Amino acid sequence: MVTLVDFGSQTAHLISRRIRELGGICEIINSDNALEKIKKSQTDGIIFSGGPASVYEKDSPTIDKKIFELGIPILGICYGQQLMCHLLGGRVKPGEKKEYGPAELRVQVIGGSGQLTKDVPSRITVWMSHGDEVVKIPAGFKRYGITKTIPHAVIADEKRKIYGIQFHPEVVHTEYGMKFLENFLKICGMTPKKSEIDKKFVDSLIKDIADSLGNEKAICALSGGVDSSVAALLVHKAVGKSLISIYVDSGLMRQGETDTLREVFGKYYKMDIQIIDAKKEFLKALKGITDPEQKRKVIGKIFIEVFEKEAKEIKAKFLVQGTIYPDVIESAGTKHAQNIKSHHNVGGLPENMNLFLIEPLRNFYKDEVRIIGEILGLPKSITQRQPFPGPGLAVRIIGEVTAEKLKILRKADAIVQEGLKDIKLWQAFAVFTGIKTTGVRGDQRAYGETIAIRAIEAKDAMSANFAHLPYEVLEKISVRIVTEVPEVNRVVYDITTKPPATMEWE
Ligand code: XMP
Repeated sequence: MVTLVDFGSQTAHLISRRIRELGGICEIINSDNALEKIKKSQTDGIIFSGGPASVYEKDSPTIDKKIFELGIPILGICYGQQLMCHLLGGRVKPGEKKEYGPAELRVQVIGGSGQLTKDVPSRITVWMSHGDEVVKIPAGFKRYGITKTIPHAVIADEKRKIYGIQFHPEVVHTEYGMKFLENFLKICGMTPKKSEIDKKFVDSLIKDIADSLGNEKAICALSGGVDSSVAALLVHKAVGKSLISIYVDSGLMRQGETDTLREVFGKYYKMDIQIIDAKKEFLKALKGITDPEQKRKVIGKIFIEVFEKEAKEIKAKFLVQGTIYPDVIESAGTKHAQNIKSHHNVGGLPENMNLFLIEPLRNFYKDEVRIIGEILGLPKSITQRQPFPGPGLAVRIIGEVTAEKLKILRKADAIVQEGLKDIKLWQAFAVFTGIKTTGVRGDQRAYGETIAIRAIEAKDAMSANFAHLPYEVLEKISVRIVTEVPEVNRVVYDITTKPPATMEWE
């Protein structure tokens, strides 16, 4: 295991992912009290991440110097390297040229190859992103790599096993980036092994689950989303009918979703799914509620009540959850990440249910979960599904949620889905704005609903831009909506970025 001390890096997750790709476990911790946390852990190596601060600034994040006396190998990346030099008696100053992007690294061989640069060719392209640079290395350190502008691109104190690099080995653009990390893991006494996700790997995953569950019963809350679908299917392959999947039909899903689920999991995979029709309960509980956060709370509460009632009757020993790796590290990670969690854990099941958790995907990233799903034979309509909020269409209807509004939104949304099915987007959907406007139909005045289209491009949930869709595509969707959904007489396109807007309207 490697502990990554996060000094505010944009790529902390990526570093942790690379470690995991090499077969290791990477725990991300904040730099506050890092020494204490590390002393209590069983870590084999420490990585100091990059970060936006400057070491010579007041209040910049730092670490207790005693960390260098623990005898655990340390790798400092970018700010991490500068910080270790600063603390150990070297010198850091603003670089004459700020470097962002590619640079040629020349690996130097000084009295034999360095451990960190072992098997790395003498000239490679690396990715830089820094304003400061190390101008004097601490006593005991040697240089192992330089670039045209940076004399200390790779440094090491081999005796104390402390290493520093100015560039980012974790980004794909750095050639041999994985080699640097692999070498570091070897220095830590680990045996890195590239893990490939293929059929054999998935089979071994299934076998592990079968061994852990034995003949006991398991239940799972299936939502039809990528994570819960893949987790449920893995467990089903392992224990067959001993897994009972519960799907709570809240009536807040998109058009055809319940049918697809029944078709794919029930008919095709012959899984034991209990579809609980709770539409009335949800609608009743949402009556009169217009505040978005209140909606989320009510939906979460009813979901848990319905699920618990069903689960009690099944008397299972295990609860299968589709927790994925970012959920695991985010809950232990930065304050910022924790905010994301609390926003998203609608439907989080109560801890007092007395069930053992089975989380077959807790070591995987979303794209890997998709690969596992594809290997298991799940259709692309499930593995490539766009994110869908836990509270469903309720947060896409502004104001009170009613059966009538849900019907209108579902129809309009299906047209948006169809119209954009060939365009790769983070998310695309229709919003029931609750604004009535004047229109004209067949020479008659009409007073109808306004539907907004939201189509967004994003790499993660933190920021987004609206998709620059061709007018012809938007026009087709708009014409279809006002023709096929007579209650609607106006369609608008949301052209706001996140921030300041969020992706969902509520
Ligand atoms: P926002 O609207 O916060 O959304 O920009 C970012 C991403 O999160 C999804 N989202 C939710 N997911 N429960 C969820 O499970 C929620 O309450 C929730 N709210 C937003 C949203 O669809 C987008 O992908």
